[in-house]
Amino acid sequence: MNILDAILKRRSIRKFTQQPIESEDLKELVLCASRAAYPANLQPLKFAIVTEETEREQLFACTKWAGYLVDGSPKEGERPTAYIVMLGDSSIKANSDFQVETGAAGTTILLAAMEKGLAGCWLGALSRDGIRELLALPENLHVTDVIALGYPAQHSVPVEMEDGNVKYYKDETGTIHVPKRPLDEILYEK
Ligand SMILES: Cc1cc2nc3c(=O)[nH]c(=O)nc-3n(C[C@H](O)[C@H](O)[C@H](O)COP(=O)(O)O)c2cc1C
Repeated sequence: MNILDAILKRRSIRKFTQQPIESEDLKELVLCASRAAYPANLQPLKFAIVTEETEREQLFACTKWAGYLVDGSPKEGERPTAYIVMLGDSSIKANSDFQVETGAAGTTILLAAMEKGLAGCWLGALSRDGIRELLALPENLHVTDVIALGYPAQHSVPVEMEDGNVKYYKDETGTIHVPKRPLDEILYEK
């Protein structure tokens, strides 16, 4: 897939077919994340891949979905078939602020996933304590965010934002419309 196409077409997808994702594909997404740009080249992130059914169920219970939609949470049979949990390693970066690194890694994973026909959703509204317990994390590893992945079973398109309304919405066909600020609003000129 053309890189510009991927960047412009990437949307958060929250419903998936139940076709499993090859383990090698998931590992390659982590490899891609390892090649992102990181401040001072510290690379303080670790990545846990979760695909086992019971663990997926436990992880799903630690997530929240689509706050702007009435019924935006994936139901059984629509849920992600894999998760990549991003973990900050405080033995590498002592101040435990992993936001920039998480941003670089998460974006890279979501874009690389598109090349494989996959889609995903970034999850930041989490029970981090629940995930810590599920993954039996040592003290130095901290849950930052989660990328939920699968083969898409939902459409989502960008629409021009009106009156500053940031809320995405679903139309009668189930397609999600995601307001984006127009270029002339975000271009600063003195
Ligand atoms: C840091 C971060 C945290 C997010 N957390 C959640 C979340 O917990 N649940 C969810 O359904 N979507 C979550 N999202 C997805 C956003 O809602 C989505 O990116 C935004 O609405 C724009 O839609 P788009 O990704 O389709 O362009 C998160 C995105 C980011 C970048």
